[in-house]
Amino acid sequence: MSRKRSVRALAGAAGAVAVALPLAACGGGGGGGGDTVSVGFVAVGPEGAWRAANEQDVRDTFTEDAGFDLRYAPATNLDQQSQISAFTSFVDEGVDIILLSATEATGWEPSLQRAQEAEIPVILVDRGIDPDDPSLYVTRIAPDNVEVASSVAEWAVTEFPDGANYFTLEGPAGVGVVNERNSGWDSVIGSSPEFVKLGAQTANWSAEEAKSVFETVLRANDNDIQLVFAQNDEMGLGAALAIEEAGLTPGEDVKIATIDGTRGALEALADGRLTFVAEYNPLFGDTLQEAVDQALNDEPVDSYIIVPSLTFDSPESAAAALPERQF
Ligand code: AHR
Repeated sequence: MSRKRSVRALAGAAGAVAVALPLAACGGGGGGGGDTVSVGFVAVGPEGAWRAANEQDVRDTFTEDAGFDLRYAPATNLDQQSQISAFTSFVDEGVDIILLSATEATGWEPSLQRAQEAEIPVILVDRGIDPDDPSLYVTRIAPDNVEVASSVAEWAVTEFPDGANYFTLEGPAGVGVVNERNSGWDSVIGSSPEFVKLGAQTANWSAEEAKSVFETVLRANDNDIQLVFAQNDEMGLGAALAIEEAGLTPGEDVKIATIDGTRGALEALADGRLTFVAEYNPLFGDTLQEAVDQALNDEPVDSYIIVPSLTFDSPESAAAALPERQF
């Protein structure tokens, strides 16, 4: 199986009209000599259970035994500049392909253009970029955030036929998935006047921050809140602690819906502390490797590859999934 790079991967993303331009003779220096393919992974680094599962899955996939030289570069404290520096180093090193999980959606055009000039294909892992220009990358691989969030909203409409006062705990400002999850939620709830949005605030994917944010929100609303839309599991678990500290019962007085589907959330759903969990499947290393091989083998690659995800709407469904849960 040839592992030469081609501009096709880049062109393929621009509406998949691929023009295969074999690059065997071209640039890119030291990466990917012989059979080993060098993969530069511009990663997010420590950021909770979902991220740990996703990045470990990538590292477990692109192993030496599988013919890869994976260079893992987690961001320093989620700082985009550290990611841009790592990206630039990978281009200068001439790796065969770059995987990018962006801590911020904006500001990637110059780096992506530099990779394009160096004819190094780039695959977006989980996070999108803004503006979204598919001509600058091969594909994005991720569950569909809009779809996942609208499944949470559809559950809420069923769970609260007369509506509810709700609050949204958001991920960090500037992260693409936050806007996608809001648009998925709003696409369903937005048209339901019975649902009263009391507000939204970032808690940076953190249980601790979510606890403190939601303590304030409960006080400010005299506990008159029936529903929390938490954009990830950790923030939902933080809200549950705030609810208990206020002398209320999560799952009864206030119902919490989260996104991710990590073990901690399923355990809390099985205990009735969370009420709905939409999975955002982090384990897509195989799909990623397939796209890497396709990109490096002149095969067209769809510009957005959606990873399937499940939903859990009862303690029983969570309890049934827990024994086999890998994240
Ligand atoms: O980009 C995906 C999000 O990043 C997950 O939902 C969140 O838990 C993670 O940190």
